Amino acid sequence: MSAFDPNLLADRVALVTGGATGIGKEIARTLGQHGARLCIASRKQGNLEAATKELEAEGLECLWVAADIREPEQVEEVLRRILDRFGRLDIVVNNAAGNFPAPIDKISYNGFKAVVDIDLRGTYNVTKAAFDAYLKQNGGHIVNISAPFQNVGVALQAHVAAAKTGVDSLTRSCAVEFGPYGIRVNAIAPGATGETEGMDRFTEVSPEISAASCPLGYVGSKRDIANAVLFLVSDAASYVTGQVFCVDGGAGVDLFKIRLPKDE
Ligand code: COA
Repeated sequence: MSAFDPNLLADRVALVTGGATGIGKEIARTLGQHGARLCIASRKQGNLEAATKELEAEGLECLWVAADIREPEQVEEVLRRILDRFGRLDIVVNNAAGNFPAPIDKISYNGFKAVVDIDLRGTYNVTKAAFDAYLKQNGGHIVNISAPFQNVGVALQAHVAAAKTGVDSLTRSCAVEFGPYGIRVNAIAPGATGETEGMDRFTEVSPEISAASCPLGYVGSKRDIANAVLFLVSDAASYVTGQVFCVDGGAGVDLFKIRLPKDE
């Protein structure tokens, strides 16, 4: 059962990039279950069709548009399709991202560029296109999906950390410039999240290690991330903008990972 009213987002329209799989699909589902009509956009048509079928079978309304967020013209087409179908856009979740674990000297020049292009430039492209096409005139919400790397170094993720640090910066800049237009801009930094491609690919860190690394003692779920997005686009967060929220079970603030025995 949700902590939020099922009609929280009634009549609202939400775009979730990378919404066909993983955390993005769960964000789309969660927003849809609270009344939003959905658009999911990503590169692979097969994934988009399958996700749309799944979400529609659950009674949700979902438009899919195949687009590479690195290409501004394709992003603008996504916005056109949303406005043609729904006539409005209230929520943008910049979730689409590219990632592969690799040490710095094994990331090719093009590999580094690909990740920065998708994660950082892609987030900018979608944000700008949504602002120009609708949000500037009507207000709304932007939530960027970041990563919990702002203040630490992480092996095998230099390219992603650099890109996501840029996303955090963009989040703050957009919050400052868009605030007067009634647009709140925040970011979620997910920690280890179970049943995701990212977790599966990051074989250096097992779920057991991830669970033991955070004070709450378990690996988070996609729903944990989606609920945080839902909070940020709700009126419960009406005075919150420009923030990057870690949803990581406290792993990021737990420097020495000391576990004290619990008092009985
Ligand atoms: N290790 C090292 N380099 C890698 C790599 C890996 N596992 N995966 C991709 N690269 C490099 C490629 O070799 C290429 O560089 P090159 O031209 O010098 O050879 C560059 O990254 C671009 O890769 P390519 O697959 O051609 O580009 P793309 O734009 O289609 O996709 C990614 C880029 C990052 C999205 C791709 O790695 C990918 O598909 N990742 C899996 C999906 C994903 O990221 N999901 C998110 C999980 S959190």
